[in-house]
Amino acid sequence: MPYTDDYERDIYGIIAFWVQNNYDHGRFFDREISHHEMELARANQHMIQRLGTIFEKTKSKTVDPGALINEAQHATNEFHGLLVYTLDKSLRCETIISTPQSLLDHMIREAEETVSVFKLIQTGGRVSPADAIIHENYFWLRQMADHLSYITHYLDTSNYELHDQVRNMTKKFENLFLQANALRTMIRPPRKEVLPALDGFSQMVIKETKALEAFKLELDELIKQCAAVTTSPPDLLEHIAREAHHLWRNLEDRVVL
Ligand SMILES: [Fe+2]
Ligand SMILES: [Fe+2]
Repeated sequence: MPYTDDYERDIYGIIAFWVQNNYDHGRFFDREISHHEMELARANQHMIQRLGTIFEKTKSKTVDPGALINEAQHATNEFHGLLVYTLDKSLRCETIISTPQSLLDHMIREAEETVSVFKLIQTGGRVSPADAIIHENYFWLRQMADHLSYITHYLDTSNYELHDQVRNMTKKFENLFLQANALRTMIRPPRKEVLPALDGFSQMVIKETKALEAFKLELDELIKQCAAVTTSPPDLLEHIAREAHHLWRNLEDRVVL
């Protein structure tokens, strides 16, 4: 697990997680733009370059974090705009791409989350442990269920057993998402304490998400060795495993980062 061992939670590590997330999205999207869409491909290439440069700066840890967040904030907003524009075109059948609309929306939501986490850091805002648990579960469990759907999307039909396994896991995460949504309204703000029901739910999610991360990394190995019949980008599974890792770490620390 290369990223797990050096997954740092200092300010640079937090910025790096979000910048890499959007940078990877750009790279994955690049593979799915038709050659009929040269303008879109060029605009997306430009975003990959910009986000890639910021990612390198973040890893070098030599630039002031405040300046880095500012730069990342601008680039993410611009990338968000490109994705929103593309999704709108796609819903009108006016663009030739093979990325499903819900996957574009998935990336848009993560870009929005990036911007709001950066804002939180910039303003030094505090989120109570209970609010953090509610928010992380509500935001990320939908993403986790989506990831499983996208594994299905890329997996060749011939993987019958794997398709069954992924379908069962999708159902599990869809249920967890529904429960997160129920708790979000049942436990109303102001949320001054972590109620036992919320803590119990969170512990269950931590356990399931660790298992999901392990599953994604297992599949990642197979895909990287070209031993699974799939059209998935080679490092997509590592990307979504990193997001699973991010979720359970935030739940354990009771933070939004
Ligand atoms: Fe992502
Ligand atoms: Fe994701």
